Amino acid sequence: MSTRPAVEELTAEAAEQELAELARAIADADRAYHQADAPVITDAEYDALKRRNAAIEARFPELRRPDSPSGRVGAAPSEGFAKVRHARPMLSLDNAFAESEIVDFAERVRRFLNLAPEDALAFTAEPKIDGLSLSLRYEAGRLVVAATRGDGETGENVTANARTIAEIPQTLSGAPDLLEVRGEVYMTHADFASLNARQDAAGSKTFANPRNAAAGSLRQLDAAVTAARPLHFFAYAWGDVSEPLAVTQSGAIARLGALGFATNPLMAVCETTDALIDRYRAIESMRARLGYDIDGVVYKVDRLDLQARLGFRSTTPRWAVAHKFSAERATTEIEAIEIQVGRTGALAPVARLVPVTVGGVVVSNATLHNADYIAGRDSRGNPIREGRDIRVGDWVTVYRAGDVIPKIEDVDLSRRPADAVSYVFPTTCPVCGSDVIREEGEAVHRCTGNLICPAQAVEKLRHFVSRGAFDIEGLGAKQVEAFFNEGWIREPADIFALEARHGEALRSREGWGEKSSRNLFRAIAERRRIPLNRLIFGLGIRHVGESAARLIARTYESWSRFAAAMEAARAHEGPEWDELNAIDGVGPVMAASLVDFFHEPANRAALDRLVAELEIEDVEAPATSGSAIAGKTVVFTGSLERMTRAEAKARAESLGAKVSGSVSAKTDYVVAGPGAGSKEKAARALGIAILTEEEWLALLG
Ligand code: IVH
Repeated sequence: MSTRPAVEELTAEAAEQELAELARAIADADRAYHQADAPVITDAEYDALKRRNAAIEARFPELRRPDSPSGRVGAAPSEGFAKVRHARPMLSLDNAFAESEIVDFAERVRRFLNLAPEDALAFTAEPKIDGLSLSLRYEAGRLVVAATRGDGETGENVTANARTIAEIPQTLSGAPDLLEVRGEVYMTHADFASLNARQDAAGSKTFANPRNAAAGSLRQLDAAVTAARPLHFFAYAWGDVSEPLAVTQSGAIARLGALGFATNPLMAVCETTDALIDRYRAIESMRARLGYDIDGVVYKVDRLDLQARLGFRSTTPRWAVAHKFSAERATTEIEAIEIQVGRTGALAPVARLVPVTVGGVVVSNATLHNADYIAGRDSRGNPIREGRDIRVGDWVTVYRAGDVIPKIEDVDLSRRPADAVSYVFPTTCPVCGSDVIREEGEAVHRCTGNLICPAQAVEKLRHFVSRGAFDIEGLGAKQVEAFFNEGWIREPADIFALEARHGEALRSREGWGEKSSRNLFRAIAERRRIPLNRLIFGLGIRHVGESAARLIARTYESWSRFAAAMEAARAHEGPEWDELNAIDGVGPVMAASLVDFFHEPANRAALDRLVAELEIEDVEAPATSGSAIAGKTVVFTGSLERMTRAEAKARAESLGAKVSGSVSAKTDYVVAGPGAGSKEKAARALGIAILTEEEWLALLG
């Protein structure tokens, strides 16, 4: 491509032809560079091709090719990927292992929907692909954004990379105007093996398994690298759509297939639980020959109207479950038993193992849970492993169940060394030396050092910056730990003073420098604005998980209301205490933990220092504008006839109402069915509106 006419002089026809040539030449160069490790053109020539391609596309945007190389310009490395907020959250699935859990699942669905035993209820069954999920947004039939799952609400914009995957169509014809297709990016076993061989030969890092390889390949800042990695995509779900794809799950997947997406050929519709289990066994027997990793079978309610009625829990749909394959096992030796101290002071024993591969992953640690578990009994004193204890030097079988940390299944006593001694659980904290106590009725031992224990402080900080909490880019567990050891960050508020106090030192710190420090300070500054639920979760209060934090935030809506209520509930009584306990999903143990956290002067002082650094965003009830019950508090009592209690609650919540278990002055409506008793009386006494089920449904519209 030496003497080419100026872009301004090109006819559309010549432009089209040249774009095709450029796409081919650039793809060839990419392949030579990344796969064969033998560049065929210089970097300058390569850049010139890309510039020319971009210039022609700028003049003839309508001629931009689906496989255009211009999509492959990665962002500048240190900037990372832009964030994309998913129009609808990308959820995960509940896991089940035993067949009995599948029977339970189907029964739960039937109960929720109030189906009679003779009512039909079909499910789809399909392989659970072990890759990473991706959401593809098409507008007017064109791929506009591809985003990773991220935390389910916000993912990373990997559009340029996704465009390089052959199985992802760039354009669709006959699709709804707006369509978000979701599915799994994966790598085949054969491609994984040859990629690792190439990486090894080039002295580059190899991948532990095809899933890591797929993730590493998709999340490349230079899309040319992704282009050179053989990735595949199966479509199995959707997000936002401007019109329904079909009336059933199976119909919707068939429609995606017709639109040009690869869909899994092993999907089947099953009418009974037995048929699901048969399908599971059939897929499991094919597993080794599929050529790509799957880790279970996903069952989904087939009728989409029923899916809609079933709805979601906070992060998983009620209408689907993943039936995982049983975990793989391996045998290895325990080299040591160590104790890790968690953020709430819990002492977690961990077995250090002679490394062993379990299901393609090298395992060198396994959780030992607590002292009882090591001793061979459960929390009620009943024997586990037939009472066999675990000792250093023992040979054990380990397994991995899903994504969780490896576990020890059993001990082989025939291989126990003669000098192995039973494990003695520490009575003092191995980190700060404080006494260790075991509270009445609890399985865990806890360090009493609380604020003086560095292990607890570091773990609290690690939690504070974790994904569901402040999620500060560039400030992960490793960095906070390093800054803690440096004395720069001792409590969360210090993070926000890092630039002012230690900016200079950081810039000259090994591995940091000007640019990465600047990025970190910017990421920290961005997080000064934080939604209330993330703040509550980030505090790391015992018993308060991510979904509880969300419920609490939705109840109080603003930080000032929340903090005032915690203060007022100090004595574990009174209206604020009752309001807290009335939140569905908050029990007395969690309520006490929250209130006591606020009451503890040192916590309160650290919290005040933190809050002074932040701008806390109010949390509103979920997207429900226009709903008559948004923001209202409802209590259901007595029996309902048109739907189950669970469905009524889920529906009310999806329209922005809060469902409470007890009546108080804050209650807006009491929905009373036959058999209602004391709650209805209380509502009458307080002058609260009491509705019949019919009136309630009419209110919902
Ligand atoms: S459905 C609302 N179907 O598994 C439910 N997920 O553990 C959307 N996955 O995040 C997911 N194969 O990445 C669905 N056939 C399949 C799947 C599948 C793999 C992944 C997906 C999801 C994770 C949940």
